[in-house]
Amino acid sequence: MLSRQRKFLFFFLCFMVVQGLSAQQILSDSIERAIDRLLLKMTLEEKVGQMNQYNGFWDVTGPAPQAGADKFKYDHFKQGLVGSVLNVRGVNQVRKLQELVVNESRLGIPLLFGFDAVHGYNTVLPIPLAEAASWDLPAIERSARVAATEAASSGINWTFAPMVDISRDARWGRVMEGAGEDPYLGSQIAVARVKGFQGNDLSSPFSVLATAKHFAGYGFAEGGRDYNTVDVSALTLHNVILPPFNAAVKAGVASVMNSFNILNGIPATANHYLVQDILKKNWKFNGVVVSDWGSGVEMIDHGFAENLSQVASLAANAGSDVDMESYAYVNHLKEEVRKGTVSLATIDQSVRRVLRLKHLLGLFKDPYKYCDTTREKVYAMHPEHTQVARDMARRSMVLLRNENNVLPLQPQKKKIAVIGSLAADKNSPLGNWRLAAKDSSAVSLLEGFDAAGISYRYAPGVKLVTEGPVHFVQELAINNHDTSGIGYAVDIAKDADIVVMMLGEHGLQSGEGRSRAQLDLPGLQQQLLEAVYAVNPNIVLVLTTGRPLAITWAAEHIPAILLAWQPGSQSGHAITDVLLGQYNPSGKLPMTFPRSDRQLPIYYNQFSTGRPGPKKEVFWSHYIDESHAPLYEFGYGKSYTQFSYSDLQLSQRADTVLVSVKLTNTGSLHGEEVAQLYIHDRVSSLVRPIRELKGFKKVRLDSGASTVVSFELPTSLLGYYDGEGKLLLEPGWFDIYVGGGSAATLSAGFLYSK
Ligand code: BGC
Repeated sequence: MLSRQRKFLFFFLCFMVVQGLSAQQILSDSIERAIDRLLLKMTLEEKVGQMNQYNGFWDVTGPAPQAGADKFKYDHFKQGLVGSVLNVRGVNQVRKLQELVVNESRLGIPLLFGFDAVHGYNTVLPIPLAEAASWDLPAIERSARVAATEAASSGINWTFAPMVDISRDARWGRVMEGAGEDPYLGSQIAVARVKGFQGNDLSSPFSVLATAKHFAGYGFAEGGRDYNTVDVSALTLHNVILPPFNAAVKAGVASVMNSFNILNGIPATANHYLVQDILKKNWKFNGVVVSDWGSGVEMIDHGFAENLSQVASLAANAGSDVDMESYAYVNHLKEEVRKGTVSLATIDQSVRRVLRLKHLLGLFKDPYKYCDTTREKVYAMHPEHTQVARDMARRSMVLLRNENNVLPLQPQKKKIAVIGSLAADKNSPLGNWRLAAKDSSAVSLLEGFDAAGISYRYAPGVKLVTEGPVHFVQELAINNHDTSGIGYAVDIAKDADIVVMMLGEHGLQSGEGRSRAQLDLPGLQQQLLEAVYAVNPNIVLVLTTGRPLAITWAAEHIPAILLAWQPGSQSGHAITDVLLGQYNPSGKLPMTFPRSDRQLPIYYNQFSTGRPGPKKEVFWSHYIDESHAPLYEFGYGKSYTQFSYSDLQLSQRADTVLVSVKLTNTGSLHGEEVAQLYIHDRVSSLVRPIRELKGFKKVRLDSGASTVVSFELPTSLLGYYDGEGKLLLEPGWFDIYVGGGSAATLSAGFLYSK
């Protein structure tokens, strides 16, 4: 028998459904009403508490801290002055802290638990830039799902990912964390990652809140120097920087993180135009805006705020809902409200956003829903995740060069030498954001070869890292003097049929705070490469890196180059699969590889200049001491087979341009190709780029087979934003290019009329 209350609820819901209100709407109305009721009960201090986020600090399961900063934070948790926390993880720790807050604070509002599960958790997947090279949206979504599942099973319910910053400067260490230089590809990948992290249902115990970061412009730090000034035009802002954020918001991303940089002279955390006008008003974002770590207090260093009180009012009024580790809100916001610089309505709006997320996750119903030790045992590291990691790593690799079909390797017929300290390294392949993973837990290349039964002789050649800490927060000491291992490496190379050299950056040479001014092979690796080449040019270079490198010498001399990036936990197995041809590489560059770091910034979708050239005289846009062309352009990548494009056809039907092309696998192996569609707007009211990616399809074809690849290009994608962010869709001639990279030559003109 239904109780009277339940009956009432049942009839009420039927009534609402008959009235045309969706279940979603009913749920969201009931959440808003619950928030209204809670807000009435909350003191101003408790409200500010929901806007305050602390970093984890002491072993939560141990004795309570008795003094100092730890005690201060501990007391704040008990007093309900903290709404969320980062870096507390593991079911036992999370449960203990949640119990403290739920049982001891006056209103018992549960905490959110945040963490940077960026490319995996215990199982480390390839760095995001590598994954972007797969152009494989379902695979990227799967990868984020793995990270979410493991993190959620360890007590986490909020990840600070995906990073959707577009960047054109490989000196910036954080390019490893994004999807590269293109706003269209970046937007598609942002959506895939948000879906992967959040799943279809936020109330599932395997979903975590995602965060689109860093809002906005962080990828344009001048000179690629992290935390540096950003000074971009309104056109770049609206056409390049903002689209992936907009796509993430449309995909329902739960939170957005402020960036560290200034935009138009205003730090992003206090940037009313960015956060209130664009994000919250124009895009109707109703999730939470969280500051970056200390991005509030840094406004004092920017010379934008005098003190923390001012930081608090500036950030809160600009719409930054949660203060991560600046101590501005918790210590000063109440006073700012009393002074009248911040209104109570502003506070309520921010608190509502935080409480809404807690409701959507179901934390009010069960604050411990992420605290299941059985789930933690099973899912915090699952054999299926290992498979996904291996598959994702293979899909991420890009074959840059393969002269005379050196690859795939035929180890049974050849004597193999393996050279390079990275080949034995089990730590570097984990890349940068691997805080939850065990150090040195990746499969090394040597282990991959062993598992595949490949016999080889091995020499490290030169060490990449000298003694000293190899740690997330510290700079690595790179070996620039010890060449003692080169002699032995040369000896084994002389005696081999083929030399596999694993060279490049260490996994902790890219990431936050790790900008480089030079994009060469770090340390003594170039010297090692040339010494080995002098005795045996039959080299396969496996390049590991978190960013594009200027490997021009290698590109001119080394017959085969496989870009492996930082492939994650399954590194050695995945690289071996590709080298042996058990997986035919299909990755395409999501970011231009320069010939020299002096060409930076370099990117494919540059504006048309008035002097494109080449010309006989010097008066055209170029360098006199270096080509102005990239080493490998955006979208470039080879396969062990070959593809050709023909029969490009265009037509317009209502709001869609139909583009079709015949794709043929002309080689002798089956393989996958990423067919890419670019547009060029011939004449427009504001100058447009020479090419812009507007579509892509990943297609699998057997040897000798052909297929017709069709694109339905919405005409809205022919438009662009003006400096105010208004979409301009102008009739006129467009060129359409289709091919296997941004240098595609197959093209056709097309007259767009409204
Ligand atoms: C980074 C963010 C990250 C945060 C929390 C900051 O230094 O810029 O991307 O989410 O730390 O770890």
